[in-house]
Amino acid sequence: MSRKTLIVANWKMHLNVHEASLLVHRLSERIKVHRSIEIVLAPSMLSLQPLSQEIDRRKFRLSAQDAYFQDEGPYTGEVSFTMLRDLVHYSIIGHSARRVYFNESLELIRDKVQAAVRNGIVPILCVGETKEERLAGETKQIIHDQVTTALSNLTAEDIEQVVIAYEPIWAISTFEGEVAKPDDMKKAMKYIRFQIAELYGQHVADKVRLLYGGSVNEHDARAYLEIEGCDGVLVGAASLNYHQFSAIVASAERMNSERRNPSRND
Ligand code: PGA
Repeated sequence: MSRKTLIVANWKMHLNVHEASLLVHRLSERIKVHRSIEIVLAPSMLSLQPLSQEIDRRKFRLSAQDAYFQDEGPYTGEVSFTMLRDLVHYSIIGHSARRVYFNESLELIRDKVQAAVRNGIVPILCVGETKEERLAGETKQIIHDQVTTALSNLTAEDIEQVVIAYEPIWAISTFEGEVAKPDDMKKAMKYIRFQIAELYGQHVADKVRLLYGGSVNEHDARAYLEIEGCDGVLVGAASLNYHQFSAIVASAERMNSERRNPSRND
């Protein structure tokens, strides 16, 4: 079973259109076309349209950071997945910032996941526990509730396409930003795939791509990428810096090439 490595840059509410375009330009100079890696950029809503005309599509794909679940209507201030359909491949959904700052419920996230799929956009569903929940031993329960509710309106076939990012909230740079030991992350990620297998079968679980996110930088990216069953990383702060982000891509490429040619590295 081979799943393509996925590296997602979540620029959050940083970079205006000009700055975003400049960053893409810089990344494009440093990043080659990698057959074994898919690189996804998630700029602000405003930058999606201009970047869609600028990016080298062999190197980059675009993602929204969020969108609204209704296709159209009197929802002042919102943008729908329908409006994004030809613009992006992916959309982050249920990011902890949405859950924490905007009180997004499990059900709203479920509706957004469904709307993305309905519009041909692949959800990058973010799940993860708070520090309190972790200390209270509730990590599995939280992940279970977040995963099962979010996917509950999809078919098994839809779920094969979904990307799930495990992002313990306490490890995200803008929350506590604590360093999460890759070995400790393994359990939660294994549990997510186990959950999918339980609900939708091993065949589906084998296809779902699982990412790790939370203060990933160029020094530790490889350790997270090496977690068993981990297919990539979701990068926030370090993705705003082209040196750091291209170094993360380079370390993924190195790892993949070592896996392809183990003998060369003996
Ligand atoms: P971080 O952000 O890498 O800055 O911790 C990750 C995220 O919030 O998706």
